Amino acid sequence: MPFVPMSQLLNAAIAGGYAVPSFAVWNLETTKLVLSVAERMKAPIILMSAPAEFSVLPPEDLGPASYALMKRFNVVAALHLDHGDSLDIVSDCLDAGYTSVMLDFSARPFEENAGALKKVVEMARPRGVTVEGEIGKVGRADDATREGVKESTLTEPADAVEFVRRTGVDTLAVSIGNAHGKYSKLPKLDFDRLGKIYAATRIPLVLHGGSGTPPEDLRRAISLGIAKVNVATDLVTPVRESLLAQWKERSDYWTPLAMGKAVKTMVPAVEKWIRQLGAEGRA
Ligand code: 13P
Repeated sequence: MPFVPMSQLLNAAIAGGYAVPSFAVWNLETTKLVLSVAERMKAPIILMSAPAEFSVLPPEDLGPASYALMKRFNVVAALHLDHGDSLDIVSDCLDAGYTSVMLDFSARPFEENAGALKKVVEMARPRGVTVEGEIGKVGRADDATREGVKESTLTEPADAVEFVRRTGVDTLAVSIGNAHGKYSKLPKLDFDRLGKIYAATRIPLVLHGGSGTPPEDLRRAISLGIAKVNVATDLVTPVRESLLAQWKERSDYWTPLAMGKAVKTMVPAVEKWIRQLGAEGRA
């Protein structure tokens, strides 16, 4: 199956009262693993990667490689640029067949953020590609994560409305107490703020920093307009721990075998996320 525009998945999620998991992948192995679990669970999913994941496979490689794998899987999925940091990387992803792009200028002044996202919409819309922006800043819960700024700033509903009006983005990442990385204490999500943002914008919203969010908070967030939840830390952590453990046990253990075993440790997290967002059986 070819990739579909992300807004198709998000609109169906809003109508169906669930959210679509967006999984961080960075190579063929992780992409294939997520696709195989999604196929088995008949779940719509989003494959995402950000500049921090492009060190070996940049979009011009990861895009065609993902399309090649998709030919072998019966999965409804979007291919998404997460936290794009320049118009050039957006352009590379559009050329590589991504069906959704995020430009994250949330740390820049409002005018600059809105102006850049307007340009992204102009670049993406003729190709039927979905655009995600961020207003307010989703920070970091730990030092290991590569996503987000150091400190969070909550999204102001009035800014969100103005941002959507000026840019025409299809979906918006919100800062409501969520953070990227491993939470050291449970996040306190500001549901009142989320409800106000959704009531005022009426576009599907995105929760970054999914890892570690309690299931009851996810359900409540979905009922208030969250249609996509980003997950990275829950996937990279077991892979890292598996590699460390395997090489601790035997430091000359054959690298391809170690990496093969490590990638499989992502399966329980992928299954858990599909289930807890209510995405199982929705494709
Ligand atoms: P976590 O690493 O906290 O799951 O966040 C992922 C994310 O939001 C990527 O954009």
